[in-house]
Amino acid sequence: MPIWLLLLLGLALLLLLRKWSLLRLGSSLPGPWAFPLLGNAQMVGKLRPEFIFLVFTELRDRFGATYRLWLGPQLWVFLHTAEETREALHDPTLRKAETFLQLEPLIGNGLLISHGSHWTQQRRLLTPAFRPILLRSFGPSVAKHADRLIERLEATSGAFLELTDPLFACLLDAIVDTSMGGRLETQSVAHSPIIRAFHRSSQLLFKRMINPLLASDWIFKRTQLWRELSEQLQVIHTLMDSLIERRSAQLQQEGDVPRRSLNLLDTLLLAKIDGEPLSRKQIRDEVNTFVFAGVDTTTAAMSFVLYALAKHPEAQHRLLEELRQLQPNASMDLDTLNELPYLDALLKEVLRLYTIVPTTGRQTTRSTVIGGRKYCAGVTLWINMYGLAHDASYYPQPYAFKPERWLQQTETEAASFSYIPFSGGPHVCIGRRYALLLMKQLTVRIATAFRLELRPDEPELTLQAQMVLKAREGIHVAFTKR
Ligand code: HEM
Repeated sequence: MPIWLLLLLGLALLLLLRKWSLLRLGSSLPGPWAFPLLGNAQMVGKLRPEFIFLVFTELRDRFGATYRLWLGPQLWVFLHTAEETREALHDPTLRKAETFLQLEPLIGNGLLISHGSHWTQQRRLLTPAFRPILLRSFGPSVAKHADRLIERLEATSGAFLELTDPLFACLLDAIVDTSMGGRLETQSVAHSPIIRAFHRSSQLLFKRMINPLLASDWIFKRTQLWRELSEQLQVIHTLMDSLIERRSAQLQQEGDVPRRSLNLLDTLLLAKIDGEPLSRKQIRDEVNTFVFAGVDTTTAAMSFVLYALAKHPEAQHRLLEELRQLQPNASMDLDTLNELPYLDALLKEVLRLYTIVPTTGRQTTRSTVIGGRKYCAGVTLWINMYGLAHDASYYPQPYAFKPERWLQQTETEAASFSYIPFSGGPHVCIGRRYALLLMKQLTVRIATAFRLELRPDEPELTLQAQMVLKAREGIHVAFTKR
């Protein structure tokens, strides 16, 4: 036998041995027929964003609660029960799925994708930047940005408006102001380059994430996609660097003892790990993580809230009834906002029906047991938050918009871990209370100021799973002054 053939056979055998546990696990799980070597890659590669999570849910109906797909040599397993989800989200041996690591050019090794002791250290450091006392102090700043948005909505004089850009600008300004003390004022600019840079980088990174051919850095960095991404990242990094430098200089003038409570950026600038301050790159990665994880999600969530109010006039009416009890300006007060049961139920239902982050992924790093099944290292586990939130066994009439369901039943009474819009376990969204504060305040102010309407012939939304859930044709609402 020629030597090259021997070598090739040896290599194939080595590969087979290394992948043996994975192959055995894969063949024990149900799933669609997979081509040799390619697996189901052609199926996943062909999926359009609007179908990704629906197909995942359809495959569940065909193959049961737990099934697999092969992406070439990678094994993907989809978990659909609340109990498996709970176990996976609490399993300390799992790390974020490799797909998410492709966000690195934007967010470096920030909290969203880091793991192990580095993640624990960062999470411990950043948690105080979201404590309730600090969130309470954000009220007036958020109100100021909300008022600017209201002025912009008023200027539309009742014409239909696509919501993404105005909401994004408002939330970007509010989040940068409250977490970094920076004034962006993107709401006052017609075409803000920073908004374009965030939108475009997010789109380009998502294109890469859903294309298995671009997984390799070597290939990706030779594409036009990478060239465009680098240009957009340059805009974001330059702006963030200038905000960081400005605040750092102010802090030095204040003798490193800020005159007010520490916000996220102050916390990062004053932090010391093993006696050393964080590098500028580490600080920028974290700041970008928070803007990236916070603005797109709250923008999507708020556009679905306003859509739901416009679509369901009875919900608008019921919310207004509840708000009538409020004092003028009370909408700035976090405690008052948290005592409005219908507002709370409305937001919960929107976050269930329009699951903003439809799926998340984890990677096994060593052998572990989830839902009574043993998983070897190297498996990607997908958690289908959208599927759980639309499972009729947890939520009767899962596709109906019924805020009342939350008035009768508390979240904890629904199968725990079926309702996880902010994920769960140790990686639960660090900004969840902050997100709810922003959403509550904007909802109250907008609903009090305007009557919201959809076009009479408005078709049902076609949902798309991009980085976050979106409506394919956007969301168009008319705002008429009350
Ligand atoms: C409606 C709005 C939001 C939704 C639906 C949402 C959802 C989520 C979800 C599902 C995760 C977990 C991902 C996973 O387990 O893999 C997460 C993590 C995270 N979120 Fe949010 N989020 C929202 C708003 C925010 C805001 C406003 C911020 C900060 C300004 C933020 C910052 C983060 C960060 C830093 C993480 C990573 C946490 C960690 O791994 O320790 N999010 N979010």
